[in-house]
Amino acid sequence: MAARPLKDLRTVRPHGDRRGGSEPAPGAPWRNFYGRLKGKALKPAQERDLEELLPRHAIPGVSWSENPERTALDMAALFGASSALLEIGFGGGEHLATLAEAHPERVFLGCEPYINGVAMLLGKIRRRGLSNIWIHPGAARDLFAVLPRASLDGAYLLYPDPWPKARHHRRRFVTPEHLDPLARALAPGAPFFEATDIADYVRQSLEEIPRAGFRWEAEEAAHWRSPWPGWTSTRYEAKALREGRTPHYLRFGRLED
Ligand SMILES: C[S@@+](CC[C@H](N)C(=O)[O-])C[C@H]1O[C@@H](n2cnc3c(N)ncnc32)[C@H](O)[C@@H]1O
Repeated sequence: MAARPLKDLRTVRPHGDRRGGSEPAPGAPWRNFYGRLKGKALKPAQERDLEELLPRHAIPGVSWSENPERTALDMAALFGASSALLEIGFGGGEHLATLAEAHPERVFLGCEPYINGVAMLLGKIRRRGLSNIWIHPGAARDLFAVLPRASLDGAYLLYPDPWPKARHHRRRFVTPEHLDPLARALAPGAPFFEATDIADYVRQSLEEIPRAGFRWEAEEAAHWRSPWPGWTSTRYEAKALREGRTPHYLRFGRLED
């Protein structure tokens, strides 16, 4: 089903925690967030996009202040479709915007706590006239908590923060606190795509992701060397290549419960 046009969603309230979405709200559990929320100064056009465009693309009902009961999102009412694809930590939004432009019939959700990245994606949405992207400007866990079970047809995790020191490995995305709720939100059989340039991140992924209810869909040992069909490179991939690191592309399938 096609996504509901954004102009039809004027009644939806903008996101409560618009800037960086991770501020504690009354009733919200205390959670660590170790990443960056803000970088260099935003350009005036980016400030304007955050003020004017983000409210029209923000996923309502994700923040604790807006939805203290943590009621599951009504996907069909909000997006005009009962399922969506998700990109976790979309950075500057290169991959998400390209995918959404190539598949206007699909609904795309993206979460990213770094507000400069959100502003970059909004610029792409505005310039390309995209109406099928919905954003949570905050951490993935808050979104997972309100996604209905099996409501995602696929998820992307591209160049997640590497946290190279051994004592910080528990901060990586590929830990049960993220993987278990992600597995719950993905439909059985749905793909989960990961790209990383860090060999030890691959090690941890291959240990942790199958434990959370996924199968690594590699048909041969070298499968990880080539990206999946439709791959769009990201800013972090370009950086990894410039610095001589090797991308690894991992595709997992969500198993039946
Ligand atoms: C290394 S960057 C990669 C960005 C982009 N995917 C790319 O390939 O260019 C990792 C991104 O994940 C985001 N991130 C970190 N923790 C996150 C979380 N808990 N939920 C969602 N995104 C997160 C960061 O803000 C950052 O933009």
